[in-house]
Amino acid sequence: MNLVNEIYVRKSCRKYFDDEIDMDLIEKAISNAKPLNEGIDYYYEIFTKDEVNIRTRWNAPYYLALYSEKKDNYLENIGFVFQQVCLYLQSIGIGSCWVGMGSLKVKNPDFLILIAFGKSDKMTRELSDFKRKKLEDISDFEDERLIPAQLAPSAINSQPWYFKHAGDGFDVFQVKQNILKRQVLKKWNPIDVGIALAHLYVSNEDNFEFEMKDDVESFKGYRYCGSVKF
Ligand SMILES: Cc1cc2nc3c(=O)[nH]c(=O)nc-3n(C[C@H](O)[C@H](O)[C@H](O)COP(=O)(O)O)c2cc1C
Repeated sequence: MNLVNEIYVRKSCRKYFDDEIDMDLIEKAISNAKPLNEGIDYYYEIFTKDEVNIRTRWNAPYYLALYSEKKDNYLENIGFVFQQVCLYLQSIGIGSCWVGMGSLKVKNPDFLILIAFGKSDKMTRELSDFKRKKLEDISDFEDERLIPAQLAPSAINSQPWYFKHAGDGFDVFQVKQNILKRQVLKKWNPIDVGIALAHLYVSNEDNFEFEMKDDVESFKGYRYCGSVKF
């Protein structure tokens, strides 16, 4: 399955048809997705729109509710796994959008975030329509290998990722937001970083490696999230 092309045409989908969907396909895609950290338990449920509380002005016929146990990197891991699923859905005509502004009707302490999904014909666009930071602003120097990460979706398009060249790979950091934005984005930004790493993984499936080094320090305004090679 080649999902690379989806990265360059995808957009968050906010207009859906009500068609039914073969949920077996979704379940298969989720079980085929690669985790960032093998040791973290996560799970999901599929809801219809009436079964969740949505605070967006648009809605979708279905929502994936994502849950995880809380261990190091669990938020990055959820972003990493489920962005692979979103790219796959797009490849079979199903649009999706991560939804921070939503919650469950029945509370669950493991709950992290929703993803809206459904059949759509409004989920692609031209590369020139992406609004993203410049490559040189997401890394210590411009590197075209980072384009898939540059194009990743993020909460209110905050693009909180920063890549520092280290050996033949990169140390990955999350940019800390100012105090006002931090309130809103503190849970979502690590998910965003995982989403960006998913785009790097999908683009380099055979040689992508992730590790937490223990000798990399966070520096002022940046939180160390791990290191990648590909
Ligand atoms: C963690 C996360 C949470 C998001 N929450 C919402 C949301 O609550 N409502 C919404 O309309 N879009 C939401 N989005 C979509 C972003 O607004 C979108 O990814 C960003 O503006 C970039 O646009 P694009 O995905 O079309 O490239 C979210 C995205 C992420 C990654």
